[in-house]
Amino acid sequence: MGFVAMDSLAARLSERSGPHPPAVFDSRIDWSGADAKPSDGMRRLTAHQALMRAYQNRYVVLPMDGSQKGSIVERLQRHYDPNYLAEADAARRTLEDELIVPLVAAIETRAEDTSCEDYVAQLLPRIRDSEPGQFIAFLESSPNRQHHYRNFLIQSSADLLAESSASALGIIGEFGEVQSALFRILIDEFGYGEHGKKHSQLYRATLRSFGLPDEYNGFWHLLDTVSLELHNTIHFLFQNPRNFFRQIGFLLYAETSYQKSTGDHHRYLRQHHKEADARYFGEHAHIDIHHTAMVVDEVVAPLLKRYGAEVGREIVIGAELTAAAFARSDAHLAALGKAIDEADSGVSFGLDASADREQRCRTPDETTPFQPVQIGGIAKIDDPRLFADLPDGTVGREVAA
Ligand SMILES: [Fe+2]
Ligand SMILES: [Fe+2]
Repeated sequence: MGFVAMDSLAARLSERSGPHPPAVFDSRIDWSGADAKPSDGMRRLTAHQALMRAYQNRYVVLPMDGSQKGSIVERLQRHYDPNYLAEADAARRTLEDELIVPLVAAIETRAEDTSCEDYVAQLLPRIRDSEPGQFIAFLESSPNRQHHYRNFLIQSSADLLAESSASALGIIGEFGEVQSALFRILIDEFGYGEHGKKHSQLYRATLRSFGLPDEYNGFWHLLDTVSLELHNTIHFLFQNPRNFFRQIGFLLYAETSYQKSTGDHHRYLRQHHKEADARYFGEHAHIDIHHTAMVVDEVVAPLLKRYGAEVGREIVIGAELTAAAFARSDAHLAALGKAIDEADSGVSFGLDASADREQRCRTPDETTPFQPVQIGGIAKIDDPRLFADLPDGTVGREVAA
């Protein structure tokens, strides 16, 4: 998106948020009109933040604390003002073309000749037999695993604090018996209406057990570009009904890989963080076995039977797009963790409370005068060379002087 358009979008998002907004109504992005020449990394970060804001407009959020100042009705009306929503939607098209469509195009060519039946038949055995992901493998030998795991929880919160809100957007409508199968999966995700069992609530319990706050959108200032890209890829699928069959591919890959990865996380937590609330992971390791079977037997198979191979190709594209996004995020967390662990100096582990939403952020490719920064939930870095060498997609939030 052009400089001027980003400038005015950022100003409007800030105006909509008002001063010191509650986290859920904070729509700001880190674009600062003062930077005449933002670096490529900063442009990419802020473009992803703006795209996330456009997607967040599609569902209801409320602050959990009812004692905030002012009228909640006025707040809600301003947050969801149709003028703001229209502006965000207008930017969304351009941002999707810039950030997500190229990722999809790369997968489309790769998935060209894969048969969906073969793909489905080999997916579960392949994932079940795979080694734990790179990040979990890294944690096993990291002396600072507590801090890296807190960062993992923070980075994943973009999606998991509103778990399944994206896929819920793909449910409404009228499309036959597969709709009812998808709805049964969705109500599991929402705990069958029992609040304490809702998956986002189980996730909150894990966050709290690591001493972290749990308000939706409360960590946006610590999310790195790779986490935003994952969030935005999922929402790109589900917020565009034209991607319906690709959404099924997302569910196929996500449910299948989750039954394995959450089992790995559950074992890891039991071994290394015995006090942690691991119910989120234990529940998924169990229920996603059923969800995978439901997607395969009650959604993919009937769709293939009804519409044929053309739809199968779409399902594979959605699944492979998801696989690539998950893999990038896993590799990034591992690479970032290693780079910080290997530093000789300039690192103070922990989450510095002063690195808050009011502070500026920076990306490793920037050349503006350096200030110490907080890297996600991991550590404070005060060595500019170390920060400059951190993997692409990392974001630092300046700590108060
Ligand atoms: Fe879930
Ligand atoms: Fe699931």
